[in-house]
Amino acid sequence: MVKITVRKAAADDIQHIVALERGSATSAHWAQADYERLAAELGTDRRVALVAESASAVVGFMVGQYVGAEWEIQNVVVAEAGKRKGIGSTMLQEFIALARGESAESIFLEVRQSNIAACALYAKFRFEESGRRKAYYSNPDEDALVLKLESL
Ligand SMILES: CC(C)(COP(=O)(O)OP(=O)(O)OC[C@H]1O[C@@H](n2cnc3c(N)ncnc32)[C@H](O)[C@@H]1OP(=O)(O)O)[C@@H](O)C(=O)NCCC(=O)NCCS
Repeated sequence: MVKITVRKAAADDIQHIVALERGSATSAHWAQADYERLAAELGTDRRVALVAESASAVVGFMVGQYVGAEWEIQNVVVAEAGKRKGIGSTMLQEFIALARGESAESIFLEVRQSNIAACALYAKFRFEESGRRKAYYSNPDEDALVLKLESL
């Protein structure tokens, strides 16, 4: 474990979030307009973004959205040099705690079945497969696993 702080993202963090996302081959990739919408929605009652900081540098982020009691994780990325040091786990733990605090009933997400690291992270927190979306991803074509955490 490295010493990190996880906090809610602010508009100033978006540039770091974009840089991390662009540097990650397996993460979800969004257009600039999606990040502009994210920046505008921070602090509203439907969007949440967390960043992990180490020595004042943003080394990871997690973005989600929610409608009522159903929460969704849209993306999670840890900087290459920070991987496998518990940063993803710390952010996910914080995300789940936030959801619980807002009376969430479930958290779901989609992930490439070949994404071993992400699947291992979610399995650690007892997300379970609740479905599959055929050929959901392109480049390369692949099914998405829908994973869900209930009983928060
Ligand atoms: C998925 C990701 C966020 C995990 O972050 P991380 O900080 O490395 O994760 P952690 O160190 O907290 O590890 C969590 C668990 O997953 C397991 N894990 C992590 N990377 C793994 C890998 N490459 N292979 C196998 N297991 C792995 C760890 O063993 C760990 O369990 P542990 O407590 O037994 O050690 C990171 O690999 C990443 O940024 N991937 C690229 C972006 C991406 O694909 N995001 C998913 C979009 S849905």
